Amino acid sequence: MENFELYLPTRHVFGSGVENEVGARLKQLGMDRVLLHYGGGSAERSGLLGRVRRSLDAAGIYYVELGGVAPNPRLDLALRGLELVRAENLGGLLAVGGGSAIDSAKCIAMGACYDGDVWDFYSGKAQPQTALPVACVLTIPAAGSESSNSSVISRVDANGTVWKRGAGSELIRPVLALMNPELTWTLPPSQTANGVADIFTHVTERYFTNSTGTYLVDQFCEGILRTLVRYAPLVIADPCHAEGRAQIMWAGALAHNNLVGVGRVQDWASHQIEHELSAVYDVAHGAGLAVVLPAWMRFVYRHDLARFVRFATTVFGVENDPFDPEGVALAGIRRLVDFYRSIGLGTSFAEIGGKVEDIDRLISGIRWDAEGQLGNFVKLGPAEVREIYRLMHRS
Ligand code: NZQ
Ligand code: ZN
Repeated sequence: MENFELYLPTRHVFGSGVENEVGARLKQLGMDRVLLHYGGGSAERSGLLGRVRRSLDAAGIYYVELGGVAPNPRLDLALRGLELVRAENLGGLLAVGGGSAIDSAKCIAMGACYDGDVWDFYSGKAQPQTALPVACVLTIPAAGSESSNSSVISRVDANGTVWKRGAGSELIRPVLALMNPELTWTLPPSQTANGVADIFTHVTERYFTNSTGTYLVDQFCEGILRTLVRYAPLVIADPCHAEGRAQIMWAGALAHNNLVGVGRVQDWASHQIEHELSAVYDVAHGAGLAVVLPAWMRFVYRHDLARFVRFATTVFGVENDPFDPEGVALAGIRRLVDFYRSIGLGTSFAEIGGKVEDIDRLISGIRWDAEGQLGNFVKLGPAEVREIYRLMHRS
């Protein structure tokens, strides 16, 4: 096990009706002037925003609203939020929604305390020294942004090129995450499935490691993956499956607050590859990951056959065959593809609108590390990523 440091400052308040406590909870935290930030309309339609406003009013919280955060949130809107925070002298952010609203709020939180261009945090030019506090009411289990230390934003250049980049800082872990699983009952099946694929991949990015002595945390990882495999079909069949919605919502937070990532070198190649798919095709992040992860697995599985055998047998219940570890490993990957397809996800490049002629652009846009590589479980260069794209043609 590698040395690690983990500080998880987010207060998770979980259960039916917790959104009605938002005003009182913000008051307790001293967040009495906030930007109320949300997405494209789902929270208004469901009545959630009305309940949030009533709770803020009852607690005497001053708030200014900025809606319209798009999936794959854009820098321009965050910059408008930044202006509002400064003009209104606001001291915190309240995001109502999923990863997109929360990430946009995190961007504003960092930018409000910085004299330079907030994009510096996404391009790797600077690290924030301080940030405003962020609270959230979560409406979709997926990105894990409700308690993660990262924010992913897309910037569109004048020529139309989209740069999707992440910024990471312990300063942007939300101070408060209100998590009512009933709020996810209105999710369309496609968004539910996208979220499951994102949560699944947050775990595999950590699980597939070259670090040793990871016995305890490996089992946490497998527990989350098995939970998704068990409950995802149930909530797809019945959107109001209370137990399933609750299990998946909690899995989403645990998968990405790094509790199951400590003590190991993590990978993250699949995420870096996917961010270009979202940038170029504007596909949902989880939908892109459902295509990338199986292809990545098919490319790297021989690197550590034993780990892939373990994945196949513990997560998908594939029967072990000590005489055919490769067959068992491949059966595990096949079961992952079948699982994704059973909940309505596409698993091939073409199904998310991918075009062969875009592959050079998709590869060149990737944020490579200082050595021009990607990932850690297996180090990938452009030639290896090209091969992964080839494997994405299979479903
Ligand atoms: O915009 P509205 O109208 O609210 O609709 C949203 C949106 O269209 C809808 N939705 C959300 N909750 C709903 C609902 N519809 C009905 N009922 C509800 N209860 O779902 C759509 C997707 O929402 P979004 O917030 O975009 O989803 P998600 O949580 O998957 O966030 C995706 C973003 O997070 C980034 C992704 O790259 C992507 O930009 N990520 C952020 C991470 C982080 N900060 O730690 C890590 C992740 O790996 C990821 O990269
Ligand atoms: Zn993700």
